[in-house]
Amino acid sequence: MPQFPWIRHSSIWIGCLDEEHALIIKLIGNVVSATLVGDHDKAARNVSLFVEAASAHFAYEEALMQAFAYPKAEGHAAKHRVVYVDMLKLERAVMQRSGEATVVPLANEISANFHNLLFPDDIGLISHIERVKSLPSERAG
Ligand SMILES: [Fe+2]
Repeated sequence: MPQFPWIRHSSIWIGCLDEEHALIIKLIGNVVSATLVGDHDKAARNVSLFVEAASAHFAYEEALMQAFAYPKAEGHAAKHRVVYVDMLKLERAVMQRSGEATVVPLANEISANFHNLLFPDDIGLISHIERVKSLPSERAG
């Protein structure tokens, strides 16, 4: 299971984000392993769960970015949209039984995009939120 740099944070909601990331990566890994052994039903079940989990995660992060006025929100949301298009391609490929030559590279590319495009940005978002939360309240004093 992947470890993310912010897992040491004690905040419950950061832990939730981390658990969501781990679930997303686990589900896409299940799609690959099921495809490689020809278990179409398992691949189909996992790709649906993957799209559902990742979509909900994106929506949650976008709500957080809006709530905390994250300055890089638009850039991160644009990356979500790019990955989302590939997620739908993957779902279609699995459902149409396109085979491992199509499914596996697409799943690997999506997984790499989560690690290389999205997770590093999430660290920036979390740092931003922690900074905002640590500012003195305007009502104080
Ligand atoms: Fe994320």
